[in-house]
Amino acid sequence: MQIKDAIDYSIKKLELSDNKKIDSEILLCFVLNCKRTKLYAYPQEKLSIFEKVKFKTLVKKRATGYPIAYITNEKEFWSKKLFVDQNTLVPRPETELLVEISNKLIKLYSLKKILELGTGSGAIAIAIASENITTHIDATDIHENVINVAARNAIDHKIENIVFIKSDWFKNINKKKYDLIVTNPPYIKADDPCLINTDIKFEPTIALSSGVDGYNDLRKIISHSQHYIKNGGWLIVEHGYNQGLSVRELFNTNGFTASTLKDYNQLDRLTYGKLR
Ligand SMILES: C[S@@+](CC[C@H](N)C(=O)[O-])C[C@H]1O[C@@H](n2cnc3c(N)ncnc32)[C@H](O)[C@@H]1O
Repeated sequence: MQIKDAIDYSIKKLELSDNKKIDSEILLCFVLNCKRTKLYAYPQEKLSIFEKVKFKTLVKKRATGYPIAYITNEKEFWSKKLFVDQNTLVPRPETELLVEISNKLIKLYSLKKILELGTGSGAIAIAIASENITTHIDATDIHENVINVAARNAIDHKIENIVFIKSDWFKNINKKKYDLIVTNPPYIKADDPCLINTDIKFEPTIALSSGVDGYNDLRKIISHSQHYIKNGGWLIVEHGYNQGLSVRELFNTNGFTASTLKDYNQLDRLTYGKLR
């Protein structure tokens, strides 16, 4: 099997994927341990038997909807390659909006102490820390194995201004006062069919689903944040495309101003506000 045949084979097998060609190329590069340019430069190069068997096995796995990031143990976020595994949510491009707004507020108001709740792979905290080296970030998650992944990513990127804390939301946060709290919490309804019918079924439920109405964690975080943020400090939360109005109400009733921003798909994606 030549490189070009392998790609054709995979594109056919991944007919249900939105990104058949890119997925096929990523998988083949993973198996051949090469850059994508090689696939274009040497389309006639032959795969060994071992490479062919491994490639076909991975294509089969991907065809079930299994995330490509879990196969390669890698996902790019804010131009940084992060290690991910089945314990961590695969960071989404739309979450980069949280980093963009955090960076703006940090620079505009010289914010120094930051808390990220539910860090997963560490994507948000690492992106912010790398661009704001004089800040201190505490980043939490509920599971030790998730914290270990985030800490590994911070070390890989030589980030020294994050401390990782295992905590059920604010439980192990000792009434510190932060300038900014940022979070991408779980916000999907527990009975939302997408949790079983789409590729996200392979990702950890605890990272995605949040009670019968999808607001369990948003409510908890927004109502407690006022006790951990300095007066005049900021809260930024990611939420679902249809949750903007309710999240703004939660911000307002808990002492925050509230503005909602849309992502690049023009969908409501985050709400941020200042503690009055
Ligand atoms: C939507 S994921 C976000 C992960 C990462 N920040 C990102 O944006 O890719 C939510 C994260 O919150 C964590 N989490 C869920 N419940 C939690 C809790 N009670 N306390 C702390 N973290 C929690 C999950 O383990 C998961 O890593």
